[in-house]
Amino acid sequence: MYANWASDPEVTRFLTWPAHSSVDVTKALLTDWIPRYEDGGYFNWAMEYKNTGKVIGNISVVKLIESIDAAEMGYCMSRAYWGQGLMPEALRTVMDYLFDVVGLNRVAACHDANNPKSGRVMEKAGMKLEGILRAAGKNNLGICDDVWHAMIRSDRKK
Ligand SMILES: CC(C)(COP(=O)(O)OP(=O)(O)OC[C@H]1O[C@@H](n2cnc3c(N)ncnc32)[C@H](O)[C@@H]1OP(=O)(O)O)[C@@H](O)C(=O)NCCC(=O)NCCS
Repeated sequence: MYANWASDPEVTRFLTWPAHSSVDVTKALLTDWIPRYEDGGYFNWAMEYKNTGKVIGNISVVKLIESIDAAEMGYCMSRAYWGQGLMPEALRTVMDYLFDVVGLNRVAACHDANNPKSGRVMEKAGMKLEGILRAAGKNNLGICDDVWHAMIRSDRKK
């Protein structure tokens, strides 16, 4: 995780957390994450590249809104693997799981308007554009416009 994406400022450019300054930061984060799997409402996956077994990225539910059976997603991946459609494949797979196994009704995600390639991931995974919340987000570059996409259960039947 540290070597492949968490220490790369190009990966974290549009994210809410800074690039890890040492492997100890990554280790501390993983130590915090591991016990959370005991809770049935914690959804956080590592992405493994099948051919090599390398861990190349991460996709997770960053916010679960149980009152409306909804999730908000976040994801990031090693730069060496960008442009192969891997994150849309991961997002589609995770959405299937969240709808079919967890029973959610809505899966959403947002990106900085200046990071359109993340919007492409959402579109390619089948989410629909919902709108732009102006100056509603903050990431490593400062305050930003958030572009929201989502898929709801009834979209899947169509
Ligand atoms: C956003 C991200 C997850 C995309 O994943 P991916 O597996 O590369 O997605 P895709 O291969 O479908 O490419 C998506 C778009 O990225 C752009 N792209 C493709 N190859 C690229 C490359 N080598 N370098 C930069 N951008 C590239 C293209 O615009 C592409 O859209 P297209 O298929 O319509 O041409 C990945 O770039 C990433 O981890 N970025 C840093 C973290 C981040 O921004 N996370 C999202 C926060 S909301």
